[in-house]
Amino acid sequence: MLRQGRITPAQQRACDELYPRYGIPYSAAPVDAQALFGRSAPLVLEIGSGMGETTAAIARAHPGTDYLAVEVHGPGIGSLLRRIEAERLPNLRVVRHDALDVLEHMIADGALAGIYLFFPDPWPKKRHHKRRIVQPAFAALAARKLAPGGILHAATDWQDYAEQMLAVLGAEPLLENTAAGFAPRPEHRPLTKFERRGLGLGHAVWDLVFRRR
Ligand SMILES: C[S@@+](CC[C@H](N)C(=O)[O-])C[C@H]1O[C@@H](n2cnc3c(N)ncnc32)[C@H](O)[C@@H]1O
Repeated sequence: MLRQGRITPAQQRACDELYPRYGIPYSAAPVDAQALFGRSAPLVLEIGSGMGETTAAIARAHPGTDYLAVEVHGPGIGSLLRRIEAERLPNLRVVRHDALDVLEHMIADGALAGIYLFFPDPWPKKRHHKRRIVQPAFAALAARKLAPGGILHAATDWQDYAEQMLAVLGAEPLLENTAAGFAPRPEHRPLTKFERRGLGLGHAVWDLVFRRR
């Protein structure tokens, strides 16, 4: 699990030196994305960006969209900050804080063009399922923060979590499934090395793409 990784000196240095430049301190009031990015563009929030490989690739491939990556894991934050610096990604900023708090308080209702949730912690033990982020309250919160037509895109490699996501998101009245069930992987989610290896071993990945009504 990522969470157990120790922070490297380079990642720590990135947190110290680059967070002031590319990080956004948590605030309980909605951020002004236009002021933050210096333009008016669609805004996508990513929950749990991990080491930031996918996040940076998406931001690089879609310069017309602005991205907020939310993560609590120090090594991941450091790693992503280093990518932003190295790749000069003006459309990507990082918030080191709990993503549910950020969604609830830092994002105005209807402000998002998209919410990405890629490979959230699976909490495989049955007694831990209640810790999974995709729950009815999450679905309602996410729907409220999306603009009409905005997309909630989740992906997981755990079948029973995928089925839970399908049931929970499908039950939220403000969301409609863009597919008959699971969706084909949208072009905007790049295949990671990890995923490519898993697919080679016969592991499956499930994508869910819901639209705000
Ligand atoms: C299994 S990792 C997947 C990371 C990345 N999305 C990927 O696909 O490689 C899940 C990530 O979600 C982060 N996370 C879990 N709960 C979170 C929360 N409430 N707020 C922000 N990040 C969270 C963890 O720290 C971890 O980095």
